[in-house]
Amino acid sequence: MTDLFSKFDPLIQQREELLSNGVTDPFNLVMEKVESPTVAICNGRRTILLGTYNYMGMTFDPDVVAAGHKALDEFGSGTTGSRVLNGTYAGHRAVERALKDFYAMDHAMVFSTGYQANLGVISTIAGKDDYIILDIDSHASIYDGCALGNAQIVPFRHNDIEALEKRLKRIPPEAGKLVVLEGVYSMLGDVAPLQEMVAVSKANGAMVLVDEAHSMGFIGEHGRGVAEAQGVIDDVDFIIGTFSKSVGTVGGFCVSNHPKFEILRLVCRPYVFTASLPPSVVATAATSIRKLMDSAGKREHLWENSKRLHAGLRQLGFKLGTEEPQSAIIAVIMPDLETGAAMWEALLNEGLYVNLARPPATPAGMTLLRCSLCALHSEEQVGEVLTMFAAAGRATGCIS
Ligand SMILES: Cc1ncc(COP(=O)(O)O)c(C=O)c1O
Repeated sequence: MTDLFSKFDPLIQQREELLSNGVTDPFNLVMEKVESPTVAICNGRRTILLGTYNYMGMTFDPDVVAAGHKALDEFGSGTTGSRVLNGTYAGHRAVERALKDFYAMDHAMVFSTGYQANLGVISTIAGKDDYIILDIDSHASIYDGCALGNAQIVPFRHNDIEALEKRLKRIPPEAGKLVVLEGVYSMLGDVAPLQEMVAVSKANGAMVLVDEAHSMGFIGEHGRGVAEAQGVIDDVDFIIGTFSKSVGTVGGFCVSNHPKFEILRLVCRPYVFTASLPPSVVATAATSIRKLMDSAGKREHLWENSKRLHAGLRQLGFKLGTEEPQSAIIAVIMPDLETGAAMWEALLNEGLYVNLARPPATPAGMTLLRCSLCALHSEEQVGEVLTMFAAAGRATGCIS
C-alpha cells in the first residue's frame, strides 16, 4: 500500500526541524481570552493583536453584538439547510439588502464564506471553453474556483498591466474571458492598478471580477474598496467580498449589476449545496455593514495608524513589502523562515501578535511578518508596537 500521506513528508520534516529548536509553534497559538478587537490573552499574558483582519474593529461593536443576540433568541442557532430550500430567513434577505445599499449595486448574493464566494462565482461563470486571466499572486480561493470550473487559466505577472494586455491579446477574440484581480493583495499589502487593468480588460472584451476582501470598509470614500478609490467601480462586473475581515464575522458575497445575475442562485454549486449562514451571523453582518457606511472617521484613523506604523518600522531598519503604506497591511520581510519564526516568538514574548506567513502563501518564496492594523488601535498602541519591534528585532539580530 502506498501511504497517501508520504507526499507531506518534506513539510513534516521542515516543521519538526523548526520546532526542535524549542520555538513556539506559530501556527498553533490559542487566544485564551479576547478582550477587544486589539487585545487578547495569549499564554496567560496581555497581547496586542496586530495580526487579525479586524480592520474596522467591528467584532465587539455593541450594536453588532446585540443584533446577534437578538437573532439567536428569535431564530435559533442555525438554519440547517441550503439557501434554495429552507435556509433563506428574513435575515439573509436583510444582509443582501445591506450589501446592495453599501455598494449601490442591483444584486447581492451571500455565501457561507468568502472562499466559497470565489469558488462559486468563478467556477460557475467561467467554464471549460472560457479563459480566466489572473494575477499570479491571486488568493487560493481564486485558483480553486478556476480549477473547479475547468476554465483555461492564463496567469500574468503580479500587478503588471502590460503582461495582462499581452495575455488578453493572445486569446481568441470570440472566447469568453474573465479577468480576476484583487483590490489589495494580502501578503504584501499592495494595491492593484485597477484603473488601468480594468480599462485594458474592457478594451479586450473581458468581464472583470475584483476581490475586495482586504479593502472593503476601509479603502474608498464609502469603503467600497480599491475599485471605488480608483474610480472604476462602475466598470467592474463582479465584486467579491467577505464578512470575515472588516465586517467582523464570517460569510462571503458577490455584488453585481449584471441583469442576469440572479440565475446564479440556481446554478452555483457552492451556494446551492451547502447550509446557509446562521441567523445570528447574518444579523451581525447586516448591522456591521450598515455601520460601515458611516465610518469615515474610523477610516481616517486607520490610515493614520498605517502611515505611523510603516514610517516607524522603516526608521527602525526593517525591510517592508511596500515603499509607501497602501492598505491596512504592513508586511515586514524576514531573511528566512528560521529568523522569521524566532522574531515572531520574540514579539509574542514582548506581548505582540503578528502573522507569520511563508511559502506557498507568500510570493517569491518570502517569509513575512504580516502586521494588519485596526481602526481601534490607539496611537499609544502603535507606539507600544514599535517599541516591541525594536526590542525583538535587536534580540534576534534582524536590526542593529
Ligand atoms: C483575497 C481573499 N479572498 C477571499 C478570502 C476568503 O475569505 P473567507 O475567510 O471569508 O473565506 C480571503 C481570506 O483570507 C482573501 O484573502
